[in-house]
Amino acid sequence: MSTAKALLHEMRRFVDLAGGAPVAAFLDGMDWAMDERGLEPASLPCLAQLPRTTELAERPAGALVRLLADGATRLRWGQTYTVADFGRDFLDGYGWTEMFGTRGHFANDRIAGGFLLLAPNLVYPDHHHTAEEIYIPLTGGAQWRMGEGGFAVRPAGAIIHHPSGVSHAMRTDDEPLLALYLWRGGALDQRSVIGRSN
Ligand SMILES: [Fe+2]
Repeated sequence: MSTAKALLHEMRRFVDLAGGAPVAAFLDGMDWAMDERGLEPASLPCLAQLPRTTELAERPAGALVRLLADGATRLRWGQTYTVADFGRDFLDGYGWTEMFGTRGHFANDRIAGGFLLLAPNLVYPDHHHTAEEIYIPLTGGAQWRMGEGGFAVRPAGAIIHHPSGVSHAMRTDDEPLLALYLWRGGALDQRSVIGRSN
């Protein structure tokens, strides 16, 4: 079984176990029998954070995080932004891999899902997009903000829902953040719009 397929299997198990009713509703109609694209791997500096995330991950995310850390170099990691957007430090500590979606390891034109990684002491500034989004942090301790609210620490396993067009931001303290994300609606490969929405 390919790394991507094993990870997809574990991702589904985790989401079924930890996502509850909100995630089940978000994924309504999801077909997990997707075609694998066989993407070429691409690495990023942020992958250096993965060993620490395996130490931080709590049940029931442990198996998923270990599988991701072990197979990370066989996955395609990408970045939405450039140095001009958020600076070099951000890019050195940020990345995502799309497991399924319009460009992910498995083809899905309706729902996208993957993993976001942020190094310690980073701010992912306010941004927004048409797609609605659910994040499930797999490591706790990072701070999250949505809309006009302030930053608040969210634990591992929290279900964080960002409605369409509502701006959101994250920041890490002295530990990295690994989070599972799900997107639906809108163009799944839309570049986030930087700044607060009105
Ligand atoms: Fe987002």
